[in-house]
Amino acid sequence: MPLKNQNPTQTEAWKKLQNKYQEIKDIELKSLFLNDSDRKEKYTLKLNDFTVDFSKNRLTDEVLVTLFELANEVDLKDAIEKMFSGDIINETENRAVLHTALRNKSGNKVLVGGKNIMGAVDQTLQKIKGFSEQIISGKHKGYTGKAITDVVNIGIGGSDLGPRMVVDALQYYKNHLHTHFISNVDGDHVFETIKNLNPETTLFVIVSKTFTTQETLTNAETVKKWFLSKGATQEDIQYNFVAVSTNLASVINFGIAADNIFTMWDWVGGRYSLWSAVGLSISLALGFEHFNELLTGAYEMDTHFKTADFDKNIPVTLALISIWYNNFFETESEVVIPFSQYLTQLVPYLQQLSMESNGKSVDRDGNKVNYQTGNVIWGNTGTNVQHAFMQLIHQGTKIVPVDFIGFSESLYGNTDHHNKLMANFYAQAEALYLGKTKEEVHLELKTANQQDKIQQLLLFKVFEGNKPSNSLLMNKLTPKNLGILIAMYEHKTFVQGHIWNIYSFDQFGVELGKELAKKYL
Ligand code: F6P
Repeated sequence: MPLKNQNPTQTEAWKKLQNKYQEIKDIELKSLFLNDSDRKEKYTLKLNDFTVDFSKNRLTDEVLVTLFELANEVDLKDAIEKMFSGDIINETENRAVLHTALRNKSGNKVLVGGKNIMGAVDQTLQKIKGFSEQIISGKHKGYTGKAITDVVNIGIGGSDLGPRMVVDALQYYKNHLHTHFISNVDGDHVFETIKNLNPETTLFVIVSKTFTTQETLTNAETVKKWFLSKGATQEDIQYNFVAVSTNLASVINFGIAADNIFTMWDWVGGRYSLWSAVGLSISLALGFEHFNELLTGAYEMDTHFKTADFDKNIPVTLALISIWYNNFFETESEVVIPFSQYLTQLVPYLQQLSMESNGKSVDRDGNKVNYQTGNVIWGNTGTNVQHAFMQLIHQGTKIVPVDFIGFSESLYGNTDHHNKLMANFYAQAEALYLGKTKEEVHLELKTANQQDKIQQLLLFKVFEGNKPSNSLLMNKLTPKNLGILIAMYEHKTFVQGHIWNIYSFDQFGVELGKELAKKYL
């Protein structure tokens, strides 16, 4: 059965939300807190040590209830069930959407076309495990009999951004292997990466679900030529090249041995694929145990998403809040600010996840939508952003809802730095919602003995405040917690796409540019 096809603007809840928006659009967050001493507690959701405080949003209990009504009116619960149970919800590509099966630790079957796919998933995981152990331990040798020292992941989009982000985020847990990523068809990217590599001790992991992607195939051919130019033979490719793909014939045609292919399936979307063999570079860099913990974290979020009531459900609540701003306040973008340098690659990853999924303007009936869909996602790490774009969020003319992401403990245990980092995490959220009034600025200048500056500076130093944010806090950046966080954003994206009545799992919008590039070529 297909997903319910419902223009969200035609629901009762949407009409109520339009009225609620008129009533509360200028409501002050300060007064919401003053009138409800339990607000922070009431508007905080938890999963293990993951805490999501969404109290600093322009929301009332009534708005929240109506947002949940919207989710019910579009049969969200049913859509979630359908995704997890392998229904063909990616109708335009005639596919199931089962990244959740890749981290399914329940022991339950998952059927695609009547066949349980969990056997194939486990087999691939075992192959990833075995191969990672061989490479890390040095048992698997390169073509001249030396252990592997460097791994180069060649892929683009979902075949690059997920593994790249996770390896970078979890570098604290890394082993001795050096991991490199080549994505862009820019030859300088390739040669800059390989210039200091030794072909004898380098493993190339070619990742392409389709094995037709121009960038990846060009880069793979270039490194193969480089490899062969260094004295290796065609025969030697089997020791230093592996591939991840659904397209076995093309991989073999490229010269990679059948044994060296890690399969994936058409029911895994590229941008949802880091949990599959696309994560091979993760397992190589961190060891299989850590990769598996990442999957376990994601599984815990899956279980929460599937079973928690909507008013306790983290991805559902965050998706609805996002819709509230996007479709009623007409905000255009969302900013994500992790207070961890390890999460520098999170935003590019989320950009593909959210914008390739929900950047659509035709609904599930094929009609042009008459409402806004996908947000622009941007951001960078705190505290760096405070010396860059935060000015616009604090004093600019746009409302930009923020997700702050923080960790209570640092990995190296340095409390001096971490206290300063986290003081900024809390301070930014507070500054955004409280702002600073004219009276406060006046008093501040007076106290600083700068009465002479009051007339000149007063208005420029005022912060309007009332700017929304969510605070996402975890204990520590562990593989499991990262799994929870990524799966949370995946499900948030799914909920948004479902409510906007679009197909979130195709990406036809990337094709035209590719076609025209071929013509130019
Ligand atoms: O950019 C389009 C896209 O199809 C993405 O969805 C995908 O992640 C990427 O290209 C790479 O595709 P492939 O893994 O097939 O090379």
